[in-house]
Amino acid sequence: MTIVEVNASKQYEVHIGPGLLPVLGPKAAALGKAQKVCIVSDSNVWPLYGAAADASLHAAGLETCAFVFPAGEASKNGESFLELLNFLAENRLTRSDLLVALGGGVVGDLTGFAAACYQRGIRFIQVPTTVLAAVDSSVGGKTAIDLASGKNLAGAFWQPSFVLCDIDCLDTLPEEVFRDGCAEVIKTAVLFDEPLFMELVRDGLRFDREKVIAACVRHKRDIVAADEFDRGQRNLLNLGHTFGHAVELLSDFTLSHGRAVAIGTAIAGRASVSLGLCDQGTATRIMWLLERFGLPVFTPHSAQALCEAAISDKKRSGDTINLILPKKIGECTIRPTPVSELENLIQAGL
Ligand code: GLY
Repeated sequence: MTIVEVNASKQYEVHIGPGLLPVLGPKAAALGKAQKVCIVSDSNVWPLYGAAADASLHAAGLETCAFVFPAGEASKNGESFLELLNFLAENRLTRSDLLVALGGGVVGDLTGFAAACYQRGIRFIQVPTTVLAAVDSSVGGKTAIDLASGKNLAGAFWQPSFVLCDIDCLDTLPEEVFRDGCAEVIKTAVLFDEPLFMELVRDGLRFDREKVIAACVRHKRDIVAADEFDRGQRNLLNLGHTFGHAVELLSDFTLSHGRAVAIGTAIAGRASVSLGLCDQGTATRIMWLLERFGLPVFTPHSAQALCEAAISDKKRSGDTINLILPKKIGECTIRPTPVSELENLIQAGL
């Protein structure tokens, strides 16, 4: 097992390794003071791991209840959020009790935001069961729900008390979902870590899960420690996301997040070449690795449509959008870009 310590406004540990789900109960009990735990999960994950999580919490002397909602991004909305808050109140959870987010990014975001708001904030544990959640969304305290106008438009920074990543849970992921999460792994390698990039080139989908997830979590830990509230350096983690969210929006969310991020990362690479920030070889290597993982690198949407969609994204501040552009593998830059230049830049990246 690998332990990564996160030092943000709250200090907590991320445990990564096989066979960890059975220690959820003892870990939750060790946080102290909680009597009840509400496990929040979705209709895909609950049938697979709900019983094991519940049994472990019970065996550790904790009372449990479970809130299970239909799997998918469509559930990450205000309605589910209020339903969850009402469920917590009906089950009389108190400020010293705990939530457990058992699932992927949607479960973690919804649970985290409910934890941030219920009785003005209660503790929660992240138990990520997808690659995306393990390497990105379960760590760092960004929590959110979607609004009709866009993704993640309402949320809070609310750090978990503990992250338990049992890599055995990744065994049941459909291959498509596993590949999807790999877009965030590749993103991390492009941002910070050429040796990790080379490892992914060498091993493809058979990469060492514990080692690679731990490497991604360490990079994220470093960024979160430096800029927890996303006022500077943390923007880097949006590599591929401004263009990716635009592609996702234009597909009416029929394209998965990871695939959209893959396309967004490839556009960022090609756009960076057009600005002379990186060489063609770097952009080609990024595209090659994404394709090695079965991820797309092109979109049929026009630069104009992508630009309009990108402008509606929350990453904009005033008339400027912070684009994350690769300089070389393992190093990217934040380029404040006037909205008026965006369409041409996207065109260059298509
Ligand atoms: N997923 C991007 C961030 O945590 O900042």
